[in-house]
Amino acid sequence: MNYNEVLRNAKENLNGSCRVCPVCNGKACAGEVPGMGGKGTGKAFTENIEALENYKLNMRVIHNAKNPDTSIELFGKKLTVPVLAAPVSGTTLNMGGKYSEMEYISWVIGGCLDAGVYAMVGDTAVDSFLLTNLEVLKSYEGNGIAIIKPWENKNVINKIKLAEEAGAFAVGMDIDAAGLITLALHGKPVGPKNVEEIREIVNSTKLPFILKGIMTADEALLAVEAGVDAIVVSNHGGRVLDQTPGVADVLPEIAEAVKGKIKILSDGGVRNGVDVLKMIALGADAVLIGRPFVTASFGGQREGVKSYIENVQSELKSAMVLTGCNSIDEINDRIIY
Ligand SMILES: Cc1cc2nc3c(=O)[nH]c(=O)nc-3n(C[C@H](O)[C@H](O)[C@H](O)COP(=O)(O)O)c2cc1C
Repeated sequence: MNYNEVLRNAKENLNGSCRVCPVCNGKACAGEVPGMGGKGTGKAFTENIEALENYKLNMRVIHNAKNPDTSIELFGKKLTVPVLAAPVSGTTLNMGGKYSEMEYISWVIGGCLDAGVYAMVGDTAVDSFLLTNLEVLKSYEGNGIAIIKPWENKNVINKIKLAEEAGAFAVGMDIDAAGLITLALHGKPVGPKNVEEIREIVNSTKLPFILKGIMTADEALLAVEAGVDAIVVSNHGGRVLDQTPGVADVLPEIAEAVKGKIKILSDGGVRNGVDVLKMIALGADAVLIGRPFVTASFGGQREGVKSYIENVQSELKSAMVLTGCNSIDEINDRIIY
């Protein structure tokens, strides 16, 4: 599949909600929430890109990493590349409305499975979105992860049960959606949670539990205390709080605090295989990618998604050769200049 063609189609199909810029960096869409941008000045989104960009790589070529293995194991599943599709929801509100939630998520889940990775599905103010996402996930034998909004605990636990019924192999909560006033306006308040409240949710399920939206080492330690299996170091793609630092800049100190105790996932500004390599070197076990899956699916549907992941894998593999890493385990901060 010609990926330039995918991007051209995406631009048309996104109806102006995304300009499909040469680099998806949050500048053209600053402040467009709802939409595809970052909140307020848009700086938290652009900072994700700049933080990653500011790390440079040590090139090394005298070694034996001739045919690196890009695969990992996560929650008992093999991934051909340490990438998951981030939960991205709201096709009508955010993506120009040409395609439905069901079309979007089925292309993303299907394309991910075709390429040997998995998708996360999201939750919004409208209950039917999660239900649609779970229905599609079920049709793919539950091969994916559901991320629920931080509603009142009873509501979160009910939704986790629905995800279990759909067969999801892990669940989680995007706790950084705690301040989304739009959700409260729908009569279903979201909010921050204390350690006991998170523990109650974690203990309600036997599935691995992921807490998404951690940006400081102290909160990563609280997440460990609450018993989670994984965190996502994330500022929600810059969509919830203006003026946060870039994820790549806070990741090393978070990794120093909790690496090995729980799985560390991270997202924000990852666009290609070199970005994946950098995030892993800075301490992530795997990364999530958000907006590029919107362009891949709106431009090339299921095949576009598969093709995007294959590109990321081949970029990652080539970058592993040139930094001397034979496996994902071998990627560490010695490759950062
Ligand atoms: C349009 C849009 C909708 C999103 N919806 C959700 C969601 O429902 N749940 C969630 O946890 N994160 C959501 N996110 C955040 C992503 O999961 C992810 O953290 C972020 O997009 C990563 O940054 P990137 O897009 O630069 O890769 C959304 C992001 C965008 C752009």
